[in-house]
Amino acid sequence: MYSEKVMDHFQHPRNMGEIENASGVGTVGNAKCGDIMRIFLDIDDNGIIQDVKFKTFGCGAAVATSSMATELVKGKSVQEAMQVTNKAVMEALDGLPPVKVHCSLLAEEAIHAALWDYAQKNGIEIEGLEKPKSDIHEGEEDEEEEY
Ligand code: FES
Repeated sequence: MYSEKVMDHFQHPRNMGEIENASGVGTVGNAKCGDIMRIFLDIDDNGIIQDVKFKTFGCGAAVATSSMATELVKGKSVQEAMQVTNKAVMEALDGLPPVKVHCSLLAEEAIHAALWDYAQKNGIEIEGLEKPKSDIHEGEEDEEEEY
């Protein structure tokens, strides 16, 4: 049910880890499955993404899409990274089963959240970028209220 590329990126994820003092960090979660994805971006003065890392607490498809998404944005400009949609990530992975499409959405949202963080920190605007809806900031996950 999974393409070879999905299996490859799941078993050998690229760019896993974190970046200290990252230019932008984005964390998003999917309320339904509870999976969480965090993307770290290292962006130079020319707005080029020099490095990118991810951490995913989620399903195999989430790991594979984060891995592919990091590969797609690395070395790109901030504006080019905006073109890395979940569709682009899925195409690069030779598709995902329909029930797993939402996992690729998490990758797109995490990149956008990290770009948003970068833009906020630098007081700039990135064309077409909107404030992330599901960005979870550390310490704001109010778990106690649920019980
Ligand atoms: Fe939740 Fe895949 S099942 S991200």
